[in-house]
Amino acid sequence: MAQARAKIILAGEHAVVYGHPAIAQPIDLEVRIHAIKSLEPGLVFLNPKMDPQHKSDSLFAQVQPKLVSLFGDRVEKLVFEIDSDIPGGCGLGSSAALSVGLIRAALEHFGESGSPEEIALMALELEKIFHGNPSGVDHTVIAHEDLIWFQNGQVEKINAYRPLKFSIMMASPHAGTRAVVEAVRQRRLQDEVAVNKIFSGISEIVFSMRSQIEQGNLREMGLLMNRNQRLLKQLGVSTPELDQLCEQAIQNGALGAKLTGAGGGGCVIALFAE
Ligand code: MEV
Repeated sequence: MAQARAKIILAGEHAVVYGHPAIAQPIDLEVRIHAIKSLEPGLVFLNPKMDPQHKSDSLFAQVQPKLVSLFGDRVEKLVFEIDSDIPGGCGLGSSAALSVGLIRAALEHFGESGSPEEIALMALELEKIFHGNPSGVDHTVIAHEDLIWFQNGQVEKINAYRPLKFSIMMASPHAGTRAVVEAVRQRRLQDEVAVNKIFSGISEIVFSMRSQIEQGNLREMGLLMNRNQRLLKQLGVSTPELDQLCEQAIQNGALGAKLTGAGGGGCVIALFAE
């Protein structure tokens, strides 16, 4: 049985699509996938928590040609049984985890293995089905299973001075990462200067956050998360519900809170002291 974990983005979402850095880490929710030889190939979702968009035969019609191009005709006779704990449309990387999990399941079935880099490269082909033109941070952090710095396809592992303890709160799901990323692209077409300024601000936060993580300054990290959230709000990807969850988290003792992933709904992450 292959598995792939969900992820959170600590800082840098959206700006990362335009070449700025982001910091991300896996979390303890996972999708488990088993590839079995079958006369009726397909994707079988065993868990209704999965985003309904992932349940259709039309998804398999898009996934299978990609798998055939990566693994050859031998993959044509496989059914993938998918059991996921990761809610869809919540910014936790359900589709990226599905992409990585399918690659790992096929490799496992054929008795093969791949490095995180190789798995990420193959999973990118599947991620494109869901997101069109993803930055790659989602499936890369899931393939690497570590706290990472990601920029333009390059990955560095970050060594945290102390464990990072996040709470994750869920608002209503969003309309899909692709739609929110497209809305930001449109906004940038209308006002490139303003949006680029927001991206530069986010980028500065990501650089500072890396130092704070490496030095173990959780309080500073929390303040950076709050700043990142204000910029995401300016960008138009937060919602009143997400803002309220951030405020509630801070009232309840969080050092900082922000939306994670595409926004427009989805999840808030809140950092707590050890
Ligand atoms: C989605 O988890 C992160 C975004 O930055 C999109 C991407 O990086 O492709 C919003």
